[in-house]
Amino acid sequence: MKALQLQEIGKPLEYVDLSPPSETGIYVSVQVLAAGLNHRDLWIQQGQYAGIQTPIILGSDAMGIYKDKKVILNPSMNWTNQSLSPPKTFKILGLPNNGTFAESVLVPARNIFPKPGHLSTVEAAALPLAGLTAYRVLFSRCKLGKNSRVLITGIGGGVALMALQFALSYGNEVWVTSGSPQKIKKAVGLGAQGGVLYTDDDWDKQLLAKAGGGFDVIVDSAAGKGFKKLIKVANPGARVGLYGGTTGKIDGVIPQAVFWKQLTICGSTMGSTVEFRKMLSFVNKHQIVPVIDKVFTLKEGNKAFQRMKSGKQFGKIVLKIE
Ligand SMILES: NC(=O)c1ccc[n+]([C@@H]2O[C@H](COP(=O)([O-])OP(=O)(O)OC[C@H]3O[C@@H](n4cnc5c(N)ncnc54)[C@H](OP(=O)(O)O)[C@@H]3O)[C@@H](O)[C@H]2O)c1
Repeated sequence: MKALQLQEIGKPLEYVDLSPPSETGIYVSVQVLAAGLNHRDLWIQQGQYAGIQTPIILGSDAMGIYKDKKVILNPSMNWTNQSLSPPKTFKILGLPNNGTFAESVLVPARNIFPKPGHLSTVEAAALPLAGLTAYRVLFSRCKLGKNSRVLITGIGGGVALMALQFALSYGNEVWVTSGSPQKIKKAVGLGAQGGVLYTDDDWDKQLLAKAGGGFDVIVDSAAGKGFKKLIKVANPGARVGLYGGTTGKIDGVIPQAVFWKQLTICGSTMGSTVEFRKMLSFVNKHQIVPVIDKVFTLKEGNKAFQRMKSGKQFGKIVLKIE
């Protein structure tokens, strides 16, 4: 089978021919037709992830065929019940196990789910990891209800856009930040109220003025120096969901602002099988379609990684394998 393999950290992926994996125990073989990229794949390729081993086929997302049925894969492994944190055996498809950037992948049969009927091959491949992460951080961790004011930072990201779509479908007012005015415009086109550039020093003040107040739920994956401003724009009692650390360590948070406003910081990582099921039924009910940035062939995988590294994307980058 053809596959994209990371052979050495920091080097481009190799397009290689490998023997297809043999089914063993609970692991069954799924033919992959399309595979979504996540920032995790880039972190691993760049050596910025724990427990990297090479050679490895990256990729956590897939739409494929199993037993003649169209399916998608839950990339969250060994986390069945909805719990406060995953069990110690939790792992993510695509490291340490070989992932989906290949013509076939081995997964436990319990990680296989029917493809939502309203999604194309590419759209379905873009859904699993980002959809699951957005669902858990918004609904399980931040307890998002209806009619709340929501802020989603870095709206060009795959998870961020999914969170925008979920929060809007559930009847909330959503504001965004981005590094690009065009991306804010596109987010408004999808239903966001408006946004500001996180590259402006006073973006917090601009946002409070534009939105006419603060936010009940905030979803962020950037952390870093900008995080202290999230505390400023949070309403009393707000929940701040954090699922990434793209810009590094958080500093400058004023503790008094956190405890005086009674804020809850909700760390969140992917989700359980139960949440994956809930996410799928939410997506089916609201007919949500992931935003696709660009599609590449498997052979063009390194171009797809370059696209993600450039930060120019708006939505999901997908590799088409059929
Ligand atoms: N814990 C988990 O389960 C989990 C799951 C998925 C992802 N993550 C993490 O979450 C992050 C995003 O992942 P992704 O796959 O959605 O990545 P992605 O599609 O590559 O998006 C990255 C986004 O980060 C935003 N960004 C960059 N600098 C920023 C800043 N200073 N302030 C606010 N936003 C900034 C950008 O927004 P603009 O383009 O709008 O400027 C960009 O679109 C990564 O760090 C990833 O490792 C964690």
